Amino acid sequence: MDVGDAILRRRSVRRFDRSRDVPRELVMQVLDAARFAPSSCNLQTWDFVLVEDADLKRRLSEQTKSVLVAPVNVFVVYDRELAKEGLANVQSASAAIMTMLLKATSLGLASLWVNAIGDHDRVRELLGVPAEYDVLALVCLGYAADPEPPPAPERRPLSEVTHVDRFVSGGQLPRSPDPDAWTLDQIGLYLKRKLQSGTRFNKADPTFVSAVVGAVTTALHGEAGDGKRVLDVLPGTGVFTEALAKAFASAQFSVLESTAENHFFAGRRCGGRVAFVPWPPAARDAILARCAPRGAKVQIARESGGLVVMPRILPFPDLADGPFDAATCLFRLEALPSALRPRLLADVFAQLGVGAPFALAFTSRRSWHAPAYALRRRLGRDSVEYAPTPDPNLIGPYEALSPGAVRALVRAAGFTIRAETALFPLPDVERLRPRILAAKGAVRVLGRAFLVLAAALRPFEALLRPFARIRVLHLVRP
Ligand SMILES: Cc1cc2nc3c(=O)[nH]c(=O)nc-3n(C[C@H](O)[C@H](O)[C@H](O)COP(=O)(O)O)c2cc1C
Repeated sequence: MDVGDAILRRRSVRRFDRSRDVPRELVMQVLDAARFAPSSCNLQTWDFVLVEDADLKRRLSEQTKSVLVAPVNVFVVYDRELAKEGLANVQSASAAIMTMLLKATSLGLASLWVNAIGDHDRVRELLGVPAEYDVLALVCLGYAADPEPPPAPERRPLSEVTHVDRFVSGGQLPRSPDPDAWTLDQIGLYLKRKLQSGTRFNKADPTFVSAVVGAVTTALHGEAGDGKRVLDVLPGTGVFTEALAKAFASAQFSVLESTAENHFFAGRRCGGRVAFVPWPPAARDAILARCAPRGAKVQIARESGGLVVMPRILPFPDLADGPFDAATCLFRLEALPSALRPRLLADVFAQLGVGAPFALAFTSRRSWHAPAYALRRRLGRDSVEYAPTPDPNLIGPYEALSPGAVRALVRAAGFTIRAETALFPLPDVERLRPRILAAKGAVRVLGRAFLVLAAALRPFEALLRPFARIRVLHLVRP
């Protein structure tokens, strides 16, 4: 196989045929190829630890489940001191790993590069690797379980990633979680990037989703039943739209979104035809310009393992317009720049029929969300990769809102507040406990204190409702 083919054919495979062993000879060819990768000062301080012992594999699986995925596991280690300037050691190891993956592809083997290997020190200990070495990654090798490789996740276009002489800003995203630091285009671009990873990274906690869907069901007053037209506002990655479409299986869903890709992705998660309301209305033509002309044949890539690959040109969507019988907007207001919030609410108002209910869920600023959020940022989990997801446990261009300010906003848009549900006055201790107990250092100490405090407050849960983390406003368009 020519190197160009190997580059294009290589895929991260996550389902291996466990019954098919890889001949040792092929594994050695892969490791042999890695020796020829470039390394800083040609130091070649890489070593490859092949794991064969079943008991060792079991103990390693406590750190990373990935060792159970493929028949062949190779841990790549590199000297942490030599050639550390400019991360030359990590770069050298990466060159070796990439060479392994390409060689594996050329031999008809499937591979996966895994950096999520758990506690690096523990893995180092288990493998008997000296302290002056880092265990950087795990390379899984084997034969793919599926005869067809998974479809390629979408890549950023060449024109966007190439700069001549000077770096031209454009494809970059803000680093701040403050929604006011983001434009709507940047939020759309960010979501598109997230969607390119498929559904794998967009799973919400089932307890959380079912509590929210329960409150939404009450708020919609039966207006999401048979044949009713329901508008889900800014579904993002579609986690909630998927849950709502299951809960209200006989309703007809539409989504209001700012990009055609997001509509397409959320719609496909619902497993049915979901009409599209491009937002903001003024950008409708520009948003639709990315879709194929009506009637054009668009090939939609296969779905595999929860991964949906969007065609570069999207199929022309079924467009929708009000009046809708009901609407939902779940944890999206707080991911929008504040100046756009009144506009969004006014546009939703305009899409609804008279008397239509609107369920608006948001994270309350007057809750334990703020300390939990601050703690998480302190602990370094402040990367935008955690956002903007519908799960307010995860942070990013996302801010908890003051309940009073939200009430004022919805009233200003013309809505009447019929009722309000308060969810999670206290954190879900049972869900947090295993994670906290598995943590180390300061996270463990602070986390344990958090658990003790939450348990002590449990008898007073009802009194703490005004400080609940999640609010669902039951609104109606008069
Ligand atoms: C440094 C690095 C670390 C990665 N770590 C993981 C991982 O821990 N788990 C995983 O499933 N995939 C991991 N991947 C695979 C990426 O998710 C994958 O390369 C990306 O989604 C693009 O898909 P493709 O490799 O099929 O082109 C990693 C890739 C790289 C380069």
